Amino acid sequence: MSNLMVVGNWKMNGSTELVHSVVACLGERLGRQSCEVVICPPSVYLDQLSAMLRVDAPNIKCGAQNLAAVVDGAQTGEISGRMLAEVGCQYVIVGHSERRQDYGETDEIVAEKFAMAQLAGLIPILCVGESLQEREMGLEELTVKRQLDAVLDFCGSECFKSAVVAYEPVWAIGTGKTASTDQAQAMHKFIRQYIMNKSGLLLEGLKILYGGSVNAGNSSELFSMNDIDGGLVGGASLDAEKFLSICNSVKS
Ligand code: PGA
Repeated sequence: MSNLMVVGNWKMNGSTELVHSVVACLGERLGRQSCEVVICPPSVYLDQLSAMLRVDAPNIKCGAQNLAAVVDGAQTGEISGRMLAEVGCQYVIVGHSERRQDYGETDEIVAEKFAMAQLAGLIPILCVGESLQEREMGLEELTVKRQLDAVLDFCGSECFKSAVVAYEPVWAIGTGKTASTDQAQAMHKFIRQYIMNKSGLLLEGLKILYGGSVNAGNSSELFSMNDIDGGLVGGASLDAEKFLSICNSVKS
């Protein structure tokens, strides 16, 4: 297996039928050199997905898109990290820009969720990234630094030992516009150095994924950059063939 990781984020899409078709397609045709693959469907499909993966594609991991910021209790509609782990999740996305923007998740809430994920034994996939306005004002590094600081300060300087970071410029999500490979590489390098400096750890194995309009046509080029360790894929993860071809991208 390559060192790359590809995470499919289905968002609020999919069906039991899609779970079947993606598992069947990837289970049969994922190359031996393929990336480490994680699929994050809506939470109602997690149980079905993890049961099917165990039988048909044991090397593919199951992940959730969100979790509660508290351990348990009177939280109508929420799902805890323990519950996600119990149905077979190993990963959980935290701080996706759609949660930050549309559901009022502040940096502090995101940090609490990150901590809850690790407490439950899940690996958080922390999303960071600037808006178009922030990029146009030259504030992209400052924004990402603020998002990382919230987690490092709340969860402790060693918290990235068991975590994945996804850099997703908000202006590239679902827009068909990707960051250029140079823009993405520069930000990934910044993120790696910032976390290493602040933690005082040599985190060479830390995976930093790129997200935002990744598709079968641009994944190889993006993943060939030094500090890009794979991708967080939205739209293109809903088509088994396209997702398979992204997962079979290799670092050139
Ligand atoms: P996209 O979404 O690939 O559809 O741009 C990526 C994401 O939001 O994680």
